[in-house]
Formats: sequence, structure tokens, C-alpha cells
Amino acid sequence: MKKKVLVLTGGGDCPGLNAVIRAIVKRASQESDWEVWGSLEAYNGILKDPMELVKLDFERVAGIHAKGGTIIGTTNKGGPFAWGVQNPDGSFRTEDRSNELLKRLKDNGFEAVISIGGDGSQKISKSLFEKGCPVVGVPKTIDNDLSETDFTFGFQTAVQIASDAVDRLTTTAYSHHRVMILEVMGRSAGWIALHTAIAGGAEVCLIPEIAYNVKKVAERINKRFKNGRGFVIVVIAEGAKSDVGEVFGKKSTEYGYENMRLGGVAFQLSEELKQAGCEADIRETVLGHIQRGGTPTAFDRVLATQFGVKAFEMVLQGDFGKMVAYKNNDIIAVSLNDAVKNYNYVSQKSYLVQTARGVGISFGD
Ligand code: F6P
Repeated sequence: MKKKVLVLTGGGDCPGLNAVIRAIVKRASQESDWEVWGSLEAYNGILKDPMELVKLDFERVAGIHAKGGTIIGTTNKGGPFAWGVQNPDGSFRTEDRSNELLKRLKDNGFEAVISIGGDGSQKISKSLFEKGCPVVGVPKTIDNDLSETDFTFGFQTAVQIASDAVDRLTTTAYSHHRVMILEVMGRSAGWIALHTAIAGGAEVCLIPEIAYNVKKVAERINKRFKNGRGFVIVVIAEGAKSDVGEVFGKKSTEYGYENMRLGGVAFQLSEELKQAGCEADIRETVLGHIQRGGTPTAFDRVLATQFGVKAFEMVLQGDFGKMVAYKNNDIIAVSLNDAVKNYNYVSQKSYLVQTARGVGISFGD
């Protein structure tokens, strides 16, 4: 009987997930006594009746490194510790099914789990490890908000897409003498916005870590116009807020979806700017899920492939309770405990913020 490793992808999809899956399968195929299985939609596959598990072999992973999304599906709702159950009256409650999950893993001969996911998924990995589950984490998120890795795959792809969007918006900006506001994702971290603003040559970059003053932003914009002519690109992170405002979001009505739904702060900023005396015409673009879709950049494919190979090698070594990470141009293992301890905010003192200020980008502070 072969040894089995269960692979799953959790949280929002992200370019590079398939490249990780493929790398795990390819590396595992070099060990004659191992086989790789996937659980569909994170832990749902193994917790459902009947279970939804797929054997991941060469044929299934052929050519998928260049495809966005995940061939084994994902979910950012629920999980083994908060499994959604519908009551007879239609309402929902959650149940802790973590013990059952451990039993199912054992009963089905799984010797290890590789969980590919962001902050929320790795918190689940940590709790499962503490209950005795042999788990290895692989970090993924376009937001780049995990603290123990310099980069996550998917981030660079998102920045590339957002920078392309700035290039396109710039043509309308200069032709019409407009202010073009581009809103990008990132939750509470400004990484995507900051990289995009620098790569795209924006004049203003508004991020969650630096509260902006709308008057200062308006003044900065007005300076760029002479006799009504000029143009400005503003990149704003979805989680940015003014020095007197709140994060622009709403609670989701989807059952089991715990995060606040962000999106739309660009429109709020537009109104604020008009009230603060911004004279130019303003247009808003919310990039949304476009920055999470499609083919990963070469960098993200390479990073994802390294993560996949390393994760399987950690399984071989029995190096559990850890997460693969990219640090100082090396692929290492960090404890899940450390991995989920701190959120990776943009530091105001970072070289990147200094660089942005150095080329005259305003943070509105
Ligand atoms: O965490 C990745 C991310 O794309 C965030 O940048 C964004 O706020 C969120 O997920 C959107 O989530 P959903 O796809 O559930 O709407």
C-alpha cells in the first residue's frame, strides 16, 4: 500500500495554486511509495458524505502551472472547526468537526496534509497540528499579508495586472485631463497599491497603513493642473481610510463568510475630493477580481513550484507544523505558530515607502 498525502486549497483563489499542486505531484512521483490526493474545496472534500477526493496524477496536473484558479476548487467559508449546518428552520449553526476530520484522515490512510492557503487557512493548519494532524502549510495570497514570507505567489501577478491597468488608464487621463482613480485589492495591507503606484508612475498612493488627509490629496492633484490641463493617477487600496474616516466595507450576508467585504472606496474618495475643492473631472475604476484571475507571471510560477517541491520534501522528512516560506531569496520552513502571529503591514519606514516618496508619490499625509 502506498503512503498518501492529501492536498487542499483554501481561501480565495490565487494565480499559482495550480503550479503548487503540479509541483507536489511531480516531486512525489519521484518517490515510488507515495501518491497524492486532492480534497475538493478545501476540507469540504474529506468532510462531505460521500467524500469528494481525487487522485492527483501526472495526467491531471499536466500543463496546469500556467492556469489561474485551482483545479481542486476552494472556499473561504467555514472549515473543520466551524462547519456550517442548516437547522430545520433554515437558519445555520456551526459545528466543530476537527476530531472527525482527524479520524477520516487516518481511516483513509492519509499520512500527511498539505494545506495551501492564506492567513485563515494557516490558522486552521496550526489548530489542526496542535490536535495531532501532520500538516504542512503553503502560503498563498495576492495580498502579500503573511508576515513570515517575503512574498507569496499571486502577489506579483496581481501587481502586474494592476500596473497594466494604470498604463491603460493613463491614456484616458492625459487625453481628457482627468483624475483617474484605480482601486486595488489587498485587504488591510497596502502592498498591491504601493507596488502598483511605483510601477505605474502614479502621483498619489493611498494605503491602509497611512491615513490620508483629503485636503492634502486635493491640493496635490490641483497642483498638477494648469489652466484645466493636466492629469493624475491615484492608486487606492480597498482598505485605505482617511484621517477622519472608516474602512469602506460591509458585512457579508453570505453564510459562513466572516471577512468584511471591501470594495468601492474609490467612489467615496471621488466624492471627498470634489467636496475638498478638486476641480478636475474624476473617474473611478475598481479592478476587483480581475487582479486575481488568469495566468500567473513567471515569477509566481517559479515561487509556487519551489513551494510545492519544498512542501512535499517536508512531508518526506516528517517536518510538520510548519509553513514553507520565501526569505532572503531562499525557500525555508517556518513554524505555523510564527506564521500566523503577525499581520504583514507595510511599514512606513520601509525602503519601498521611502522609494515612493523619493519619486514624489504622495500618500496624502
Ligand atoms: O484575500 C484576497 C482578496 O482578493 C482580498 O484582496 C479581497 O478583499 C478579498 O480576497 C475578496 O474576497 P472574495 O473573493 O471572497 O470577494
